Amino acid sequence: MFRTHTCGELNINDVNKNISLAGWVQTIRKFGSITFVDLRDRYGITQLLFSESLNEKLEANPLGREFVLQVSGVVNERSSKNPNMPTGEIEILVSDFTILNKSITPPFTIQDDTDGGDELRMKYRFLDLRRQAVKKNLELRYAVGRSTRNFLHEQQFMDIETPFLIKSTPEGARDFVVPSRMNAGQFYALPQSPQTFKQLLMVSGYDRYYQIVKCFRDEDLRADRQPEFTQIDCEMSFVDQEDILNMFENLVKRIFKDVKNIDYIESVERITWEEAMWNFGNDKPDIRFDMKLCNLKFPSHTFPTKADISSLISGVDFKVFDESETVIALAAPGCSEYTRKQTDELTEWVKRPQIGMKGLVYIKCNLDGTFKSSVDKFYSEEKLKAIAEATGAQPGDMIFIVEGAEERTRKAASELRLHLAQQLGKRNPEVFKLLWVLDFPLFEYAEDDNRWVARHHPFTSPKPSDIDTMINNNPVIDNPSAYLKHPYANIKANAYDMVLNGNEIGGGSIRIFQKELQQKMFAALGMDEHEQQHKFGFLLGAFEYGAPPHGGIAFGFDRLCSILGGSESIRDFIAFPKNNSGRDVMIDAPSTIDDKQFDELQIKLDLKD
Ligand code: AMO
Repeated sequence: MFRTHTCGELNINDVNKNISLAGWVQTIRKFGSITFVDLRDRYGITQLLFSESLNEKLEANPLGREFVLQVSGVVNERSSKNPNMPTGEIEILVSDFTILNKSITPPFTIQDDTDGGDELRMKYRFLDLRRQAVKKNLELRYAVGRSTRNFLHEQQFMDIETPFLIKSTPEGARDFVVPSRMNAGQFYALPQSPQTFKQLLMVSGYDRYYQIVKCFRDEDLRADRQPEFTQIDCEMSFVDQEDILNMFENLVKRIFKDVKNIDYIESVERITWEEAMWNFGNDKPDIRFDMKLCNLKFPSHTFPTKADISSLISGVDFKVFDESETVIALAAPGCSEYTRKQTDELTEWVKRPQIGMKGLVYIKCNLDGTFKSSVDKFYSEEKLKAIAEATGAQPGDMIFIVEGAEERTRKAASELRLHLAQQLGKRNPEVFKLLWVLDFPLFEYAEDDNRWVARHHPFTSPKPSDIDTMINNNPVIDNPSAYLKHPYANIKANAYDMVLNGNEIGGGSIRIFQKELQQKMFAALGMDEHEQQHKFGFLLGAFEYGAPPHGGIAFGFDRLCSILGGSESIRDFIAFPKNNSGRDVMIDAPSTIDDKQFDELQIKLDLKD
């Protein structure tokens, strides 16, 4: 027997027991004739004490960091206890030891506060994974998976695997493709999601399906995006949007309870896409804090139901605002005392190319009820007061205003809101706020091709009240610069996203299940009949054999884990992630393949410079 216990297990109740442990040497400290070793395994760290009697054996068999060591001995109460460790009250008085394997010196210290940089830790990920901090993340991931499976199993969802070698299912990203040796010149695509397969399973009658499944997307990478990532993918038949929202709200609540012991999430707030864009400039707003945007000026066709309050800023000959398409203000609570240096820094921040504003106007709402602004030359105290009222600013707040073209300005206002909230400490990762965003537009305009693309995916159904608009209007866009005025721009989808602390953790929709409407949808996206048959003949065919009404959702499993774990980066929650160039630097992939492999695949490589 290699061990009687693990390194995280023994405590004061085990004193005097004869035990054996096996693990890795984390640290070695010599005090005169005795040696202390911290022995680590998956479960924790236990202190070992080698007394003088073992010195001869230690000299013949010197220990080193990360050696694999087996020890036997007696549990002893420590004289100086460490209350921060579960095993901190005891140590093992070693009677004998065996070195099971040696280790060369690791390239970084295997401790929470490691000296290893990102690239180095990724190259030696198998060592990085030994660190408690990383292990904690993988344990959390496992707990989220377990909780998910338990809940879905109780709700009669069935886990069904779908293939990885498939035909391309467009979800907005590029496919990774795999050449077929047996079908020379032809390629499989790796699934961007199991979308069409789960819909086919509904046609087959498996009315509650789920899968925790790898998806592959060849897209630009960011902290919250990996080329291969995992979804909690679900689909249900005979449901409407309300059924889905309720079911998956309960799933997420259960995960919070099981994994974080949080039960303060009662009902998940809901907001329409339009309200989200209006109030937060963003379709995945962080609602841990308020700081809503105040739309002082906007093009009327973008928010046709909203009141025009632009008179608050016009009529004073301030050309900047008079000439801009959109002007958005927001009040930063308690910031009226910001110094010149601080407002200058913020101005530089909004001028960065990523934000792209020309400048930043500010209004100080002094505690005594007076105002001071960077545009005092144009705006009277009276006018400033009216603007402040519209933004909801209180005495002691500072109002910031950005202006420019609609899309860019709204995005900049949203970024500024997040930036200020971060500075103000309002984005505590230990506070969780969930939100459903509903009623997304069905279509998005693709400037390059001057056509509509599906905002979610082509299988999402329009709101029933918008089906006629879709059927009765020609999708062709005659005037690209006024595409927002096309009737298709206002068609809303039966689609929903779940947002957690400003991150999209899941998205789904009620699907189209009638062949004719699906064909109409494909046609709206510019696919002629031939292309429809070539790409989706199997689905259109299946819809002729009694497809039930159905809908579903997929959660980004890695993303959910990272937010629950308080981190922005999903890489920390994936055992073997890729770097930002899509490379696995540990196994050095992607890499070239042998000429023989090219020959077998009948592929000739002709790389362009
Ligand atoms: P969608 O494309 O919105 O929907 O994806 C669902 C969720 O997956 C996560 N996600 C990612 N996570 C890490 N890296 C990526 N590259 C990445 N891309 C997406 C996000 C997202 O909310 N088939 C539909 C779902 C459905 O309609 O049922 C789909 O895949 O958290």
